[in-house]
Amino acid sequence: MKENFDVKLVENAKYYTPDAEYKRSSWIGDYQEAYRRFLADPDAFWETIARELEWIRPWDRVCEWTYPYARWFVNAQLNITANCLDRHVAGDRRNKVALIWRGEDGKERVYSYQRLLGEVSRFANGLKKLGVKKGDRVCIYMPMVPEQLIAMLACARIGAVHSVVFAGFGTSALNLRINDAEAKVVITADISIRRGKAIPLITIVQEAIVHAPSVEHVVIYRRRKEPPVELHPGREHDFYGIMEDVPAECPCETMDAEDPLFVLYTSGSTGTPKGVVHTCGGYMVGAYYSTKTVFDLKERDIYWCTADPGWITGHTYIVYGPLAVGATVFITEITPDYPDPGSWWKLIQEQQISVFYTAPTAIRTFMKVGEDWPNRYNLSSLRIIGSVGEPLNPEAFEWYYRVIGKSRCPIVDTWWQTETGMQMITTMVGEPMRPGFVGKPIPGVEVDVTDKNGNPVPPGTGGFLVIKRPWPSMLRTVYKNDARYRQYWETISGVYAAGDLAVKGSDGYIMVIGRADDIIIVSGHNIGTAEVESALVSHHAVAEAAVIGKPDAIKGNAIKAFVILRVGNTPSEKLTQDLIYHVRMTLGPVAVPHEIEFVDKLPKTRSGKIMRRVLKAKELGMDPGDISTLEE
Ligand code: PRX
Repeated sequence: MKENFDVKLVENAKYYTPDAEYKRSSWIGDYQEAYRRFLADPDAFWETIARELEWIRPWDRVCEWTYPYARWFVNAQLNITANCLDRHVAGDRRNKVALIWRGEDGKERVYSYQRLLGEVSRFANGLKKLGVKKGDRVCIYMPMVPEQLIAMLACARIGAVHSVVFAGFGTSALNLRINDAEAKVVITADISIRRGKAIPLITIVQEAIVHAPSVEHVVIYRRRKEPPVELHPGREHDFYGIMEDVPAECPCETMDAEDPLFVLYTSGSTGTPKGVVHTCGGYMVGAYYSTKTVFDLKERDIYWCTADPGWITGHTYIVYGPLAVGATVFITEITPDYPDPGSWWKLIQEQQISVFYTAPTAIRTFMKVGEDWPNRYNLSSLRIIGSVGEPLNPEAFEWYYRVIGKSRCPIVDTWWQTETGMQMITTMVGEPMRPGFVGKPIPGVEVDVTDKNGNPVPPGTGGFLVIKRPWPSMLRTVYKNDARYRQYWETISGVYAAGDLAVKGSDGYIMVIGRADDIIIVSGHNIGTAEVESALVSHHAVAEAAVIGKPDAIKGNAIKAFVILRVGNTPSEKLTQDLIYHVRMTLGPVAVPHEIEFVDKLPKTRSGKIMRRVLKAKELGMDPGDISTLEE
């Protein structure tokens, strides 16, 4: 983590207070009171929530904390899908709509809880037929279709550990994730459809598994009918094919609360991506509780989170949280600009979406195209609107609040991470909102802003965002690399260092400023500078590369790469395009540099580390700070 930064907060104490009815009818009730209840007895607080769910065996203790390792709901047994599906089918929600999917061509598919349970059970039995057992890793690389959720839930049902890889990642990013997790099966689709174009996912998978010795089977959801992709006998299987001739029911595997539920890769500031491991019991409780209270989900809500299940936001707030709560979830492959910039507002009107959760980069893109687009549609069904992934700047807040929320809907700007598993800081529904600030820790979570030694910094001064006590849905380890897990708790002794810089206002509201390390958040996606640099260096013309994030009005940050060419290569527009293409093919479109500058030298420390901070300061015309370690 960098030690030198100087952020001072100019307090603009502007608040928006939602109608009192929001608070009166909210699940959380009075925020202050709920927070006090948590602090008075954290175990009792979480236990009360856990009791709302179904367990095969209850816990002996709520939390066992042996720094830096936590076990939650010790010795309890459960299956998360029993809570996401069976519980509702056995209760009053058998015919309730669990999932609505809309395709680009206007096709709609609707699943009741009963139907979803049936599909999940049959697909789970299909996986079993392929030899998938409890503890096996299964990679899911799929477009945003119901089959993606069915695959995730089927894994969870039989105790297989899913590793979902966002379908925007390229061959080598996928290969690395399959190999690190040693996935036995890859579940994919022939194509994904974006903006009227078919993107062949299967060919990316086929290339990615050439050097993936653990993979035994590939399951393909074949969308294209004419002609359907051919299956390689014995190795490739049809998604619906494996669901034939299997029992309609699949009993839930009994999982220990601490058994892994999934691995999800996230960029590290150095080296390869980290396989963040979440476990069954604590994750379920955190996902359920936060979904219910932060979105204040009610029985009649129709809920839409625009993320992809390939990210943590989709895991927790499309799949596990809303289904554990028993909500109606809407998903779509439709992008916000296709066929025109009104597509999402049209969907809100047609589907009568009441709770909507999106990202600041989307909001800023909408601001750019103007309010005429949303104004063409009736958005009065909206009740609560949310944001996640990067700072929601005050201008974007005001626009979102006024144009989409009609100065009526509370905005829940939620701060959290792949590692935290659930939302950690927000402004709970009903509380006064402060543009530019995420808000306060949700009841159950204790955070602070500190210096590098863990001492709280005074209000208004920048510091590191830390979490002061374990929480149920915290990551338990980094897959096959526990040393990297320990770093979270050892960087600042005794607390979890999130890696973000933040400022606390005198009212306790927290403003998140950005990353404190070499991770760049582009359109809300975590990109490690190291990953992009190594992709660039894998090109034959490149000797060395350094990558920085540059502020961008829409994307939050844009990637700029500085490249030293190998002898015999000369800079040209063609080479720039070749390098961009190369990164796109290896890492995927999410990690593509927006700008490439060819240079002869890179600023380095005497020990040879590239000083990205110096490059960035120079790029932005800022003071580079302490450069005493700079060579020459
Ligand atoms: O820097 C913070 C930023 O996103 C990082 C976590 O990224 P990821 O693990 O991909 O998870 C994203 C979705 C939960 C954080 O360290 N971040 C996330 N939400 C916010 C945010 N920054 C400011 N405000 C937010 N609401």
